[in-house]
Amino acid sequence: MERRRLRIALIPGDGIGREVVPAAQRVLDAAGVAAEYLRLDAGFETFQRTGNALPPATVEGVRSCDGALFGAVSSPSTRTPGYVSPILTLRKELDLFANVRPALSAPVTGSQEGIDFVIVRENTECLYVKQEREEKNGARVVAERVITRRASARVTQTACEIAMRRAALRGEQKALLTVVHKANVLALSDGLFRTTALDVAEGYAGLEVEEQLVDSMVYRMIREPQRYDVVVAPNLYGDILSDAAAALVGGLGLAPSANVGDGYVLAEPVHGSAPDIGGKGIANPVATIRAAALLLEQLGQGDIAKRIENAVDAVLSAGVWTADLGGQATTEDVTEAVCVALQAERSVAIRR
Ligand code: NAI
Ligand code: MG
Repeated sequence: MERRRLRIALIPGDGIGREVVPAAQRVLDAAGVAAEYLRLDAGFETFQRTGNALPPATVEGVRSCDGALFGAVSSPSTRTPGYVSPILTLRKELDLFANVRPALSAPVTGSQEGIDFVIVRENTECLYVKQEREEKNGARVVAERVITRRASARVTQTACEIAMRRAALRGEQKALLTVVHKANVLALSDGLFRTTALDVAEGYAGLEVEEQLVDSMVYRMIREPQRYDVVVAPNLYGDILSDAAAALVGGLGLAPSANVGDGYVLAEPVHGSAPDIGGKGIANPVATIRAAALLLEQLGQGDIAKRIENAVDAVLSAGVWTADLGGQATTEDVTEAVCVALQAERSVAIRR
């Protein structure tokens, strides 16, 4: 079967982003992905060099591609005039309205067993509109939280479609959608998210829908993570829930995400630039390798994505672990092991 040749933007960014993105690119090559790559600058180092954390050429380059793989960027911890977060800006520019974050058990000691759910986080509004203002000479600060019917509806639609797709892959008719909110306190804003989500979900046959308040959601997700399938939440709740979910299945070094819009996908690891281990060659590349697999899946190459996931599982099962997982392997060791696993499987497939 002749595959479409992909054009993929690579945005390594800062810190370990520059180690894990090239690692993922090697894995894509080893998996036999037909692609051309466009390497683009963004991040704090780019800001210091050019005065712009997200140069216009990067935005243009990203747009010219089918999808993008983003590493991580460092952000200044104090207010820095002129600095804007490249990832937040890219999400906005490309209207990437849903953030898809799978939580899947991994064969490592830090992971619980039997977990396989996806958090779909609204990606454009909520408190992340960053409308803060000072009153009373700074003694009082007000932050606006925006929830719209449109954004709530489209993120729920994405979540429902993922739920149906997962059910089909399992060979089942049934899927479970959990709608997370806090409408008992925020009756208007979370109320709108809740009613919109429940409305949209009603249109999917075979989809069981439940709702859960965000605080009890955290509790239950930690006590019974195995019961969840697809979870949809407003931006801030989804952000917090997905970091907690990552802790259940082996940590940030393994957790991928995909920012999805109509016709575009930008995949990235959940972790940041990890300045504490940057440049040492010990960062775990698995989160970014899995993000690359998510990218392929969204671009219609789910079969190659599956092979990459299997290769990663084989390598983790064999105990090739970086320090965050309690092992001693380097970024290079893990990357090489995944490439070897893929090539071994490919040559078997070709001989067959
Ligand atoms: P972080 O995710 O960079 O690091 C948290 C901890 O996890 C650190 O101890 C780090 O060493 C470890 N860790 C993270 N990824 C790892 C990996 N692949 N392998 C092994 N260990 C790993 O979060 P932190 O420290 O809060 O932020 C550092 C910088 O990253 C900040 O400037 C922050 O603004 C930025 N950041 C960027 C993100 C993005 O670009 N999407 C997301 C989160 C943070
Ligand atoms: Mg986060």
